Amino acid sequence: MTAMRRATGAAGGARRLEGRLVALGVTGSIAAYKAVELLRLLTAEGADVVVLLSASAARFVGPLSFAALSRHPVETELMELLPDGRIGHVVIADSADAIVVAPATAHWLGAMANGLAGDVVTAACLATSAPVVVAPAMDGDMWTHPATRSNVARLRDAFGYAVVEPGSGPLASGQSGVGRLAELPAIVDAVVAAIGDRPVRQPAVDARPPLVAGLPREADLVGRHVVVTAGGTREPIDPVRYIGNRSSGKMGVAIAEAALDRGASVTLIAADVSVPLPDERARVVRVETTGQLRGALLEALFGGGGGGGAPSPLAARFDALVMAAAVADFTPAAPADRKLARGESLSLELRPTPDLLAEVARIVRGLDGEGSETREPVTPTPLLVGFAAETGSLERAGAKLRAKRLDLLVANDVAEAGSGFGTDTNRVVILDAAGGRDELPLLSKREVADRILDRVAGALDDRDAASQTAGMQEASR
Ligand SMILES: Cc1cc2nc3c(=O)[nH]c(=O)nc-3n(C[C@H](O)[C@H](O)[C@H](O)COP(=O)(O)O)c2cc1C
Repeated sequence: MTAMRRATGAAGGARRLEGRLVALGVTGSIAAYKAVELLRLLTAEGADVVVLLSASAARFVGPLSFAALSRHPVETELMELLPDGRIGHVVIADSADAIVVAPATAHWLGAMANGLAGDVVTAACLATSAPVVVAPAMDGDMWTHPATRSNVARLRDAFGYAVVEPGSGPLASGQSGVGRLAELPAIVDAVVAAIGDRPVRQPAVDARPPLVAGLPREADLVGRHVVVTAGGTREPIDPVRYIGNRSSGKMGVAIAEAALDRGASVTLIAADVSVPLPDERARVVRVETTGQLRGALLEALFGGGGGGGAPSPLAARFDALVMAAAVADFTPAAPADRKLARGESLSLELRPTPDLLAEVARIVRGLDGEGSETREPVTPTPLLVGFAAETGSLERAGAKLRAKRLDLLVANDVAEAGSGFGTDTNRVVILDAAGGRDELPLLSKREVADRILDRVAGALDDRDAASQTAGMQEASR
Protein backbone atom coordinates (compact mmCIF):
# COMPACT_ATOMS: atom_id res chain seq x y z
CA MET A 1 0.00 0.00 0.00
CA THR A 2 2.74 2.43 0.99
CA ALA A 3 4.80 1.72 -2.08
CA MET A 4 1.78 1.98 -4.36
CA ARG A 5 0.64 5.28 -2.98
CA ARG A 6 3.94 7.05 -3.13
CA ALA A 7 4.94 8.71 -6.40
CA THR A 8 8.51 7.50 -6.74
CA GLY A 9 11.02 7.96 -9.48
CA ALA A 10 11.92 5.42 -12.10
CA ALA A 11 13.49 2.14 -11.03
CA GLY A 12 15.18 3.58 -7.97
CA GLY A 13 17.36 6.01 -10.00
CA ALA A 14 17.25 9.76 -10.45
CA ARG A 15 14.21 11.13 -12.26
CA ARG A 16 15.64 11.89 -15.67
CA LEU A 17 12.81 14.11 -16.93
CA GLU A 18 12.32 16.23 -13.81
CA GLY A 19 10.77 19.59 -14.70
CA ARG A 20 10.38 18.69 -18.38
CA LEU A 21 7.22 19.04 -20.42
CA VAL A 22 6.89 16.10 -22.80
CA ALA A 23 4.16 16.06 -25.47
CA LEU A 24 2.96 12.55 -26.26
CA GLY A 25 1.40 12.25 -29.73
CA VAL A 26 -0.74 9.15 -30.18
CA THR A 27 -1.97 8.04 -33.61
CA GLY A 28 -4.46 5.38 -34.76
CA SER A 29 -2.61 2.11 -34.26
CA ILE A 30 -3.89 -0.95 -32.44
CA ALA A 31 -0.93 -0.27 -30.09
CA ALA A 32 -2.47 3.05 -28.97
CA TYR A 33 -3.44 1.47 -25.64
CA LYS A 34 0.28 1.12 -24.83
CA ALA A 35 0.57 4.91 -24.86
CA VAL A 36 -1.29 5.01 -21.54
CA GLU A 37 1.52 3.01 -19.94
CA LEU A 38 4.12 5.13 -21.77
CA LEU A 39 2.53 8.22 -20.23
CA ARG A 40 2.86 6.63 -16.80
CA LEU A 41 6.54 5.80 -17.37
CA LEU A 42 7.30 9.34 -18.53
CA THR A 43 5.51 10.73 -15.47
CA ALA A 44 7.50 8.39 -13.20
CA GLU A 45 10.64 9.99 -14.67
CA GLY A 46 9.38 13.35 -13.41
CA ALA A 47 7.96 14.63 -16.73
CA ASP A 48 4.88 16.76 -16.99
CA VAL A 49 3.12 15.10 -19.93
CA VAL A 50 0.52 16.56 -22.29
CA VAL A 51 -1.21 14.28 -24.80
CA LEU A 52 -2.18 14.91 -28.43
CA LEU A 53 -4.53 12.36 -30.00
CA SER A 54 -5.24 11.97 -33.71
CA ALA A 55 -8.91 11.45 -34.56
CA SER A 56 -8.23 7.75 -35.31
CA ALA A 57 -6.32 7.29 -32.06
CA ALA A 58 -9.25 8.70 -30.13
CA ARG A 59 -11.34 5.81 -31.54
CA PHE A 60 -8.84 3.30 -30.09
CA VAL A 61 -8.34 4.95 -26.66
CA GLY A 62 -10.60 7.69 -25.27
CA PRO A 63 -9.07 10.94 -24.03
CA LEU A 64 -10.35 10.50 -20.47
CA SER A 65 -7.61 8.10 -19.31
CA PHE A 66 -4.93 10.36 -20.78
CA ALA A 67 -6.45 13.50 -19.19
CA ALA A 68 -6.79 11.82 -15.78
CA LEU A 69 -3.21 10.57 -15.80
CA SER A 70 -1.57 13.64 -17.34
CA ARG A 71 -3.75 16.24 -15.55
CA HIS A 72 -3.82 18.24 -18.80
CA PRO A 73 -6.78 18.46 -21.19
CA VAL A 74 -6.06 16.21 -24.20
CA GLU A 75 -5.52 17.99 -27.49
CA THR A 76 -7.65 16.30 -30.18
CA GLU A 77 -9.37 18.97 -32.24
CA LEU A 78 -7.10 21.04 -34.47
CA MET A 79 -9.81 23.59 -35.13
CA GLU A 80 -10.75 24.22 -31.48
CA LEU A 81 -9.09 26.82 -29.24
CA LEU A 82 -8.18 26.34 -25.58
CA PRO A 83 -10.70 27.84 -23.13
CA ASP A 84 -8.36 30.83 -22.68
CA GLY A 85 -8.28 31.49 -26.44
CA ARG A 86 -4.79 30.13 -27.10
CA ILE A 87 -4.12 27.67 -29.93
CA GLY A 88 -3.53 24.32 -28.25
CA HIS A 89 -1.07 22.69 -30.63
CA VAL A 90 1.00 25.90 -30.84
CA VAL A 91 1.16 26.22 -27.04
CA ILE A 92 2.41 22.62 -26.89
CA ALA A 93 4.83 23.15 -29.79
CA ASP A 94 6.29 26.23 -28.10
CA SER A 95 6.57 24.85 -24.57
CA ALA A 96 7.35 21.12 -24.88
CA ASP A 97 10.91 19.97 -24.23
CA ALA A 98 10.27 17.06 -26.62
CA ILE A 99 7.45 15.55 -28.65
CA VAL A 100 7.25 11.77 -28.77
CA VAL A 101 4.89 10.19 -31.29
CA ALA A 102 4.11 6.67 -30.10
CA PRO A 103 2.65 4.73 -31.72
CA ALA A 104 3.17 6.41 -35.10
CA THR A 105 1.04 4.98 -37.90
CA ALA A 106 2.09 4.52 -41.52
CA HIS A 107 -0.45 7.20 -42.38
CA TRP A 108 1.00 9.65 -39.88
CA LEU A 109 4.57 9.03 -41.12
CA GLY A 110 3.38 9.87 -44.64
CA ALA A 111 1.56 13.01 -43.53
CA MET A 112 4.55 14.17 -41.46
CA ALA A 113 7.10 13.42 -44.19
CA ASN A 114 5.08 15.69 -46.50
CA GLY A 115 4.30 18.41 -43.97
CA LEU A 116 0.55 17.86 -44.10
CA ALA A 117 -0.68 19.47 -40.90
CA GLY A 118 -4.19 17.99 -40.93
CA ASP A 119 -4.16 16.61 -37.38
CA VAL A 120 -2.97 17.89 -34.00
CA VAL A 121 0.08 15.62 -33.84
CA THR A 122 1.50 16.63 -37.23
CA ALA A 123 0.61 20.28 -36.65
CA ALA A 124 2.47 20.35 -33.31
CA CYS A 125 5.53 18.65 -34.82
CA LEU A 126 5.61 21.10 -37.72
CA ALA A 127 5.29 24.06 -35.35
CA THR A 128 7.97 23.03 -32.87
CA SER A 129 11.71 23.48 -32.57
CA ALA A 130 11.84 20.81 -29.84
CA PRO A 131 13.36 17.40 -30.58
CA VAL A 132 10.91 14.83 -31.95
CA VAL A 133 11.02 11.10 -31.20
CA VAL A 134 8.98 8.74 -33.36
CA ALA A 135 8.09 5.13 -32.49
CA PRO A 136 6.27 3.50 -35.44
CA ALA A 137 3.92 0.53 -35.07
CA MET A 138 2.16 -1.25 -37.91
CA ASP A 139 1.68 -4.45 -39.84
CA GLY A 140 4.93 -5.99 -41.18
CA ASP A 141 4.11 -5.37 -44.87
CA MET A 142 3.24 -1.74 -44.14
CA TRP A 143 6.59 -1.29 -42.40
CA THR A 144 8.59 -2.74 -45.30
CA HIS A 145 6.65 -0.88 -48.02
CA PRO A 146 8.90 1.53 -49.95
CA ALA A 147 6.55 4.41 -49.14
CA THR A 148 6.99 3.83 -45.39
CA ARG A 149 10.73 3.26 -45.80
CA SER A 150 11.21 6.58 -47.59
CA ASN A 151 8.93 8.44 -45.16
CA VAL A 152 10.91 7.14 -42.19
CA ALA A 153 14.21 7.99 -43.90
CA ARG A 154 12.97 11.54 -44.55
CA LEU A 155 11.92 12.02 -40.90
CA ARG A 156 15.26 10.72 -39.68
CA ASP A 157 17.65 12.24 -42.21
CA ALA A 158 15.97 15.45 -43.36
CA PHE A 159 14.12 16.39 -40.16
CA GLY A 160 16.58 15.00 -37.60
CA TYR A 161 13.88 13.04 -35.75
CA ALA A 162 14.95 10.11 -33.54
CA VAL A 163 13.23 6.94 -34.75
CA VAL A 164 12.78 4.11 -32.28
CA GLU A 165 12.51 1.15 -34.65
CA PRO A 166 9.67 -1.31 -34.14
CA GLY A 167 10.45 -4.80 -32.88
CA SER A 168 9.53 -8.18 -34.27
CA GLY A 169 6.93 -10.61 -32.97
CA PRO A 170 3.24 -11.45 -33.35
CA LEU A 171 1.26 -8.60 -34.96
CA ALA A 172 -2.41 -7.64 -34.67
CA SER A 173 -2.98 -8.89 -38.23
CA GLY A 174 -2.26 -12.42 -37.03
CA GLN A 175 1.06 -12.48 -38.86
CA SER A 176 4.45 -12.38 -37.25
CA GLY A 177 7.14 -9.92 -38.35
CA VAL A 178 8.66 -6.50 -37.73
CA GLY A 179 6.15 -3.80 -36.80
CA ARG A 180 5.44 -4.11 -33.08
CA LEU A 181 5.82 -0.91 -31.12
CA ALA A 182 9.29 -0.82 -29.52
CA GLU A 183 9.55 -1.66 -25.82
CA LEU A 184 8.33 1.30 -23.78
CA PRO A 185 11.51 1.80 -21.68
CA ALA A 186 13.47 2.13 -24.94
CA ILE A 187 11.09 4.92 -26.02
CA VAL A 188 11.55 6.68 -22.66
CA ASP A 189 15.35 6.37 -23.05
CA ALA A 190 15.09 7.92 -26.52
CA VAL A 191 13.16 10.90 -25.12
CA VAL A 192 15.76 11.39 -22.36
CA ALA A 193 18.57 11.20 -24.94
CA ALA A 194 16.81 13.60 -27.35
CA ILE A 195 16.41 16.25 -24.65
CA GLY A 196 19.94 15.74 -23.35
CA ASP A 197 21.13 18.70 -21.32
CA ARG A 198 19.17 21.37 -23.20
CA PRO A 199 17.71 24.02 -20.87
CA VAL A 200 14.01 23.73 -19.96
CA ARG A 201 12.23 25.42 -22.87
CA GLN A 202 9.37 27.05 -21.04
CA PRO A 203 9.55 27.29 -17.24
CA ALA A 204 6.72 29.88 -17.08
CA VAL A 205 3.55 28.06 -16.06
CA ASP A 206 1.28 30.54 -17.84
CA ALA A 207 2.91 29.71 -21.17
CA ARG A 208 2.50 25.95 -20.73
CA PRO A 209 -0.67 23.94 -21.51
CA PRO A 210 -3.49 24.38 -18.99
CA LEU A 211 -4.24 21.82 -16.27
CA VAL A 212 -7.51 19.96 -15.94
CA ALA A 213 -9.24 21.46 -12.91
CA GLY A 214 -10.16 19.23 -10.01
CA LEU A 215 -8.63 15.91 -11.09
CA PRO A 216 -6.95 14.07 -8.23
CA ARG A 217 -3.25 13.20 -8.58
CA GLU A 218 -3.92 10.33 -6.21
CA ALA A 219 -6.38 9.98 -3.38
CA ASP A 220 -3.49 9.39 -0.99
CA LEU A 221 -4.56 11.88 1.66
CA VAL A 222 -8.12 10.62 2.12
CA GLY A 223 -8.91 10.54 5.83
CA ARG A 224 -6.04 12.91 6.71
CA HIS A 225 -6.46 16.33 8.28
CA VAL A 226 -3.89 18.73 6.88
CA VAL A 227 -3.49 22.19 8.39
CA VAL A 228 -1.90 24.78 6.11
CA THR A 229 -0.96 28.38 6.88
CA ALA A 230 -0.60 30.89 4.05
CA GLY A 231 0.12 34.55 3.39
CA GLY A 232 1.90 37.26 5.33
CA THR A 233 1.02 38.52 8.79
CA ARG A 234 0.46 42.20 9.48
CA GLU A 235 1.69 43.71 12.73
CA PRO A 236 -0.16 46.92 13.68
CA ILE A 237 1.75 50.14 14.28
CA ASP A 238 -1.47 52.05 14.85
CA PRO A 239 -5.10 51.47 13.72
CA VAL A 240 -4.27 52.23 10.06
CA ARG A 241 -0.62 51.24 9.60
CA TYR A 242 1.12 47.93 9.85
CA ILE A 243 4.41 46.13 9.24
CA GLY A 244 3.89 43.48 6.58
CA ASN A 245 5.83 41.42 4.08
CA ARG A 246 5.74 40.50 0.41
CA SER A 247 4.11 37.07 0.74
CA SER A 248 1.24 36.55 -1.74
CA GLY A 249 -0.01 33.32 -0.14
CA LYS A 250 0.27 31.51 -3.51
CA MET A 251 2.47 28.69 -2.18
CA GLY A 252 0.30 27.98 0.86
CA VAL A 253 -2.93 28.12 -1.14
CA ALA A 254 -1.41 25.78 -3.75
CA ILE A 255 -0.60 23.31 -0.96
CA ALA A 256 -4.13 23.57 0.45
CA GLU A 257 -5.64 22.99 -3.02
CA ALA A 258 -3.33 20.08 -3.79
CA ALA A 259 -4.15 18.46 -0.42
CA LEU A 260 -7.88 18.90 -1.11
CA ASP A 261 -7.50 17.34 -4.58
CA ARG A 262 -5.75 14.38 -2.96
CA GLY A 263 -8.67 13.79 -0.60
CA ALA A 264 -7.48 15.49 2.63
CA SER A 265 -9.72 17.54 4.84
CA VAL A 266 -7.95 20.87 5.01
CA THR A 267 -7.89 23.74 7.48
CA LEU A 268 -6.35 26.76 5.79
CA ILE A 269 -5.29 29.55 8.12
CA ALA A 270 -4.87 32.51 5.83
CA ALA A 271 -3.17 35.77 6.76
CA ASP A 272 -2.84 38.49 4.09
CA VAL A 273 -3.17 36.77 0.69
CA SER A 274 -3.60 38.08 -2.87
CA VAL A 275 -5.10 34.93 -4.40
CA PRO A 276 -8.60 33.41 -4.16
CA LEU A 277 -9.06 30.93 -1.32
CA PRO A 278 -10.65 27.47 -1.70
CA ASP A 279 -13.28 28.41 0.88
CA GLU A 280 -15.94 26.09 -0.51
CA ARG A 281 -13.80 23.01 -0.01
CA ALA A 282 -11.54 23.88 2.94
CA ARG A 283 -12.21 25.18 6.43
CA VAL A 284 -10.73 28.67 6.04
CA VAL A 285 -9.77 30.79 9.06
CA ARG A 286 -8.75 34.38 8.31
CA VAL A 287 -6.19 36.06 10.58
CA GLU A 288 -4.17 39.22 10.44
CA THR A 289 -1.50 39.34 13.14
CA THR A 290 1.01 36.76 14.35
CA GLY A 291 -0.91 36.64 17.64
CA GLN A 292 -4.13 35.77 15.83
CA LEU A 293 -2.33 33.19 13.72
CA ARG A 294 -0.99 31.56 16.89
CA GLY A 295 -4.49 31.38 18.40
CA ALA A 296 -6.00 29.92 15.23
CA LEU A 297 -3.18 27.43 14.91
CA LEU A 298 -3.41 26.10 18.47
CA GLU A 299 -7.19 25.87 18.07
CA ALA A 300 -6.94 23.91 14.82
CA LEU A 301 -4.12 21.63 16.02
CA PHE A 302 -5.00 20.97 19.66
CA GLY A 303 -8.49 22.41 20.15
CA GLY A 304 -6.96 25.46 21.80
CA GLY A 305 -4.96 23.30 24.26
CA GLY A 306 -1.25 22.79 24.17
CA GLY A 307 -0.48 25.42 26.78
CA GLY A 308 1.03 24.67 30.19
CA GLY A 309 -2.02 22.99 31.73
CA ALA A 310 -2.89 20.80 28.75
CA PRO A 311 -3.75 17.16 29.47
CA SER A 312 -1.09 14.52 28.88
CA PRO A 313 -0.88 12.76 26.47
CA LEU A 314 -2.42 15.26 24.10
CA ALA A 315 -4.42 13.87 21.17
CA ALA A 316 -3.49 15.23 17.75
CA ARG A 317 -6.38 16.74 15.84
CA PHE A 318 -4.27 16.89 12.69
CA ASP A 319 -2.04 14.63 10.65
CA ALA A 320 0.23 17.24 9.09
CA LEU A 321 0.96 20.92 9.47
CA VAL A 322 2.46 22.79 6.54
CA MET A 323 3.55 26.20 7.74
CA ALA A 324 3.83 28.19 4.52
CA ALA A 325 2.77 31.54 6.00
CA ALA A 326 5.35 34.32 6.16
CA VAL A 327 5.09 35.10 9.86
CA ALA A 328 6.54 38.37 11.12
CA ASP A 329 9.67 37.97 13.22
CA PHE A 330 9.07 41.27 15.00
CA THR A 331 6.00 43.21 16.09
CA PRO A 332 5.68 46.77 17.45
CA ALA A 333 6.06 46.56 21.24
CA ALA A 334 3.27 49.04 21.92
CA PRO A 335 0.93 49.67 18.95
CA ALA A 336 -0.82 53.04 19.24
CA ASP A 337 -4.58 53.11 19.93
CA ARG A 338 -5.00 56.13 17.70
CA LYS A 339 -3.56 57.04 14.34
CA LEU A 340 -0.10 58.51 14.81
CA ALA A 341 0.23 62.09 13.58
CA ARG A 342 2.81 63.17 11.02
CA GLY A 343 5.99 64.38 12.71
CA GLU A 344 9.69 64.90 12.37
CA SER A 345 10.60 61.28 12.91
CA LEU A 346 9.20 58.11 14.39
CA SER A 347 11.04 55.39 16.24
CA LEU A 348 9.35 52.06 16.68
CA GLU A 349 10.36 49.63 19.34
CA LEU A 350 9.94 46.09 18.06
CA ARG A 351 9.85 42.90 20.07
CA PRO A 352 10.31 39.41 18.67
CA THR A 353 7.23 37.34 17.95
CA PRO A 354 7.02 33.75 19.21
CA ASP A 355 8.38 31.10 16.82
CA LEU A 356 5.06 29.36 16.17
CA LEU A 357 6.40 26.29 14.42
CA ALA A 358 9.03 25.66 17.10
CA GLU A 359 6.28 26.03 19.72
CA VAL A 360 4.01 23.54 17.92
CA ALA A 361 6.94 21.13 17.54
CA ARG A 362 7.66 21.31 21.28
CA ILE A 363 4.03 20.54 22.11
CA VAL A 364 3.92 17.69 19.62
CA ARG A 365 7.12 16.18 21.01
CA GLY A 366 6.11 16.69 24.67
CA LEU A 367 8.90 19.18 25.46
CA ASP A 368 8.94 22.36 27.53
CA GLY A 369 10.49 25.67 26.55
CA GLU A 370 13.98 24.43 27.46
CA GLY A 371 13.60 21.26 25.41
CA SER A 372 13.13 18.90 28.41
CA GLU A 373 10.59 16.10 28.17
CA THR A 374 7.74 17.09 30.42
CA ARG A 375 4.90 14.96 29.10
CA GLU A 376 4.01 12.26 26.60
CA PRO A 377 4.43 13.26 22.96
CA VAL A 378 1.25 13.84 20.97
CA THR A 379 -0.08 10.65 19.36
CA PRO A 380 -0.29 9.62 16.60
CA THR A 381 2.73 11.74 15.74
CA PRO A 382 1.76 14.45 13.24
CA LEU A 383 4.13 15.57 10.53
CA LEU A 384 5.56 19.09 10.74
CA VAL A 385 6.66 20.88 7.60
CA GLY A 386 8.28 24.29 7.68
CA PHE A 387 9.35 26.79 5.04
CA ALA A 388 12.54 28.82 5.08
CA ALA A 389 12.68 31.83 2.79
CA GLU A 390 16.33 32.76 2.49
CA THR A 391 18.21 35.21 0.32
CA GLY A 392 21.44 33.84 -1.04
CA SER A 393 22.78 30.69 0.60
CA LEU A 394 20.44 28.00 1.93
CA GLU A 395 23.10 26.86 4.42
CA ARG A 396 21.14 27.95 7.49
CA ALA A 397 18.13 25.83 6.51
CA GLY A 398 19.49 22.51 7.86
CA ALA A 399 20.24 24.10 11.23
CA LYS A 400 16.69 25.52 11.30
CA LEU A 401 15.19 22.08 10.66
CA ARG A 402 17.12 20.58 13.56
CA ALA A 403 16.63 23.50 15.96
CA LYS A 404 12.88 23.53 15.37
CA ARG A 405 12.63 19.70 15.43
CA LEU A 406 10.74 19.53 12.11
CA ASP A 407 10.19 16.55 9.84
CA LEU A 408 10.62 18.49 6.58
CA LEU A 409 11.89 21.94 5.73
CA VAL A 410 11.23 23.48 2.34
CA ALA A 411 13.93 26.06 1.67
CA ASN A 412 14.01 28.52 -1.18
CA ASP A 413 16.08 31.48 -2.21
CA VAL A 414 13.52 34.25 -2.58
CA ALA A 415 16.07 36.51 -4.25
CA GLU A 416 16.33 34.13 -7.22
CA ALA A 417 14.31 34.97 -10.38
CA GLY A 418 11.10 32.93 -10.65
CA SER A 419 11.32 31.79 -7.03
CA GLY A 420 9.63 33.08 -3.91
CA PHE A 421 7.14 35.87 -3.31
CA GLY A 422 4.37 36.57 -5.81
CA THR A 423 5.68 34.30 -8.57
CA ASP A 424 3.82 31.29 -9.99
CA THR A 425 6.95 29.17 -9.86
CA ASN A 426 9.36 28.13 -7.16
CA ARG A 427 12.70 26.38 -6.96
CA VAL A 428 12.99 24.64 -3.61
CA VAL A 429 15.17 22.22 -1.70
CA ILE A 430 13.33 19.78 0.57
CA LEU A 431 15.39 18.83 3.62
CA ASP A 432 14.33 16.00 5.94
CA ALA A 433 15.11 15.06 9.53
CA ALA A 434 17.25 12.11 8.37
CA GLY A 435 19.64 14.51 6.61
CA GLY A 436 18.16 13.96 3.12
CA ARG A 437 18.26 16.81 0.62
CA ASP A 438 16.01 16.86 -2.48
CA GLU A 439 16.84 19.72 -4.86
CA LEU A 440 13.88 20.30 -7.17
CA PRO A 441 14.12 22.24 -10.43
CA LEU A 442 12.07 25.36 -11.14
CA LEU A 443 8.47 24.11 -10.98
CA SER A 444 4.99 25.57 -10.76
CA LYS A 445 3.92 26.21 -7.17
CA ARG A 446 1.21 23.58 -7.66
CA GLU A 447 3.82 21.02 -8.69
CA VAL A 448 6.03 21.99 -5.72
CA ALA A 449 2.94 21.55 -3.51
CA ASP A 450 2.40 18.05 -4.90
CA ARG A 451 6.06 17.11 -4.41
CA ILE A 452 5.83 18.19 -0.76
CA LEU A 453 2.59 16.26 -0.33
CA ASP A 454 4.17 13.16 -1.93
CA ARG A 455 6.59 13.22 0.99
CA VAL A 456 3.86 13.97 3.54
CA ALA A 457 1.55 11.19 2.28
CA GLY A 458 4.42 8.68 2.21
CA ALA A 459 5.60 9.57 5.73
CA LEU A 460 2.06 9.30 7.12
CA ASP A 461 1.65 5.88 5.51
CA ASP A 462 4.97 4.79 7.03
CA ARG A 463 3.88 6.14 10.43
CA ASP A 464 0.66 4.15 10.34
CA ALA A 465 2.37 1.01 9.07
CA ALA A 466 4.93 1.25 11.93
CA SER A 467 2.25 1.69 14.59
CA GLN A 468 0.25 -1.23 13.15
CA THR A 469 3.33 -3.44 13.32
CA ALA A 470 4.03 -2.30 16.90
CA GLY A 471 0.39 -3.01 17.80
CA MET A 472 0.58 -6.53 16.35
CA GLN A 473 3.82 -7.25 18.22
CA GLU A 474 2.24 -5.99 21.43
CA ALA A 475 -0.84 -8.20 20.89
CA SER A 476 1.27 -11.30 20.19
CA ARG A 477 3.28 -10.97 23.44
C1 LIG B 1 -8.07 -2.31 -35.90
C2 LIG B 1 -7.13 -1.40 -36.64
C3 LIG B 1 -5.81 -1.41 -36.28
C4 LIG B 1 -4.91 -0.58 -36.97
N1 LIG B 1 -3.61 -0.59 -36.57
C5 LIG B 1 -2.72 0.14 -37.28
C6 LIG B 1 -1.34 0.12 -36.91
O1 LIG B 1 -0.92 -0.56 -35.96
N2 LIG B 1 -0.48 0.90 -37.60
C7 LIG B 1 -0.90 1.69 -38.66
O2 LIG B 1 -0.06 2.34 -39.26
N3 LIG B 1 -2.19 1.75 -39.00
C8 LIG B 1 -3.12 1.00 -38.34
N4 LIG B 1 -4.44 1.07 -38.68
C9 LIG B 1 -4.87 1.98 -39.75
C10 LIG B 1 -4.96 3.40 -39.23
O3 LIG B 1 -5.87 3.45 -38.13
C11 LIG B 1 -5.42 4.36 -40.32
O4 LIG B 1 -4.45 4.41 -41.35
C12 LIG B 1 -5.75 5.73 -39.80
O5 LIG B 1 -6.18 6.53 -40.89
C13 LIG B 1 -4.55 6.38 -39.16
O6 LIG B 1 -4.86 7.70 -38.81
P1 LIG B 1 -3.83 8.63 -38.02
O7 LIG B 1 -2.50 8.36 -38.55
O8 LIG B 1 -4.29 10.01 -38.31
O9 LIG B 1 -3.98 8.30 -36.58
C14 LIG B 1 -5.35 0.24 -38.03
C15 LIG B 1 -6.70 0.24 -38.35
C16 LIG B 1 -7.59 -0.56 -37.66
C17 LIG B 1 -9.02 -0.54 -38.06
